Amino acid sequence: MRIWLRQGFIEVDGNIPASTAVRVAPASVRIQGEKLDHPQGLTLIFHKPVGCICSRKEEGRLVYDYLPEQWMLREPKLSCVGRLDMDTSGLLILTDDGQLNHRLTAPNRKVPKHYLVRLDRSLQGNETEIFASGALLLDGEQTPCLPAILNVHDAMEAELIITEGRYHQIRRMFAAIGNHVVALQRSRIGGLSLDGLSPEEYRIIDKDALLDGVFSTDQA
Ligand code: URA
Repeated sequence: MRIWLRQGFIEVDGNIPASTAVRVAPASVRIQGEKLDHPQGLTLIFHKPVGCICSRKEEGRLVYDYLPEQWMLREPKLSCVGRLDMDTSGLLILTDDGQLNHRLTAPNRKVPKHYLVRLDRSLQGNETEIFASGALLLDGEQTPCLPAILNVHDAMEAELIITEGRYHQIRRMFAAIGNHVVALQRSRIGGLSLDGLSPEEYRIIDKDALLDGVFSTDQA
């Protein structure tokens, strides 16, 4: 950065600053005449395809591989808001705003997450009641799942709405009642939907619009 400054590449409001120690508004900075890339921060919605992972630390194709390469170098880092597992597709929010991330994922917010589930075996008819009971225990856990809403579409397909984010929760909920999920897609987070995004596509979204979407009760 100092070298760039000495070479006159950096301007703030049209002037070359005296040192790198000066605090400036990111939107007023130009580097070789160009504005910074999203100087106020970056938040986006992404239609995650199956076959990629949300973690940066694991091997394999990452969700970040679908985004512009230079965004991997951003500080603060762009992070997933909650995770979808490798074989799950659908709506994923990414942001570099830690507070926003916390606001969307804090357990007390109980943001409803909607999933479309395709099953290996036919539904028996008692699943809606079991999931709504708040008594379903997942393998290896001591605390039952919070009540969840199951909307049955047909014998092998349903929508499940949960307000928690336990590890592989939907797959484990069906495993706990002797079924198996063969395809899983998150279609909605609160009132926010994929809104026409195709798999692998992303859209930058204003933070306030995102919050309005997630916390709106109008889920048309
Ligand atoms: N439940 C799962 O089993 N997987 C996900 O990715 C999200 C919820």
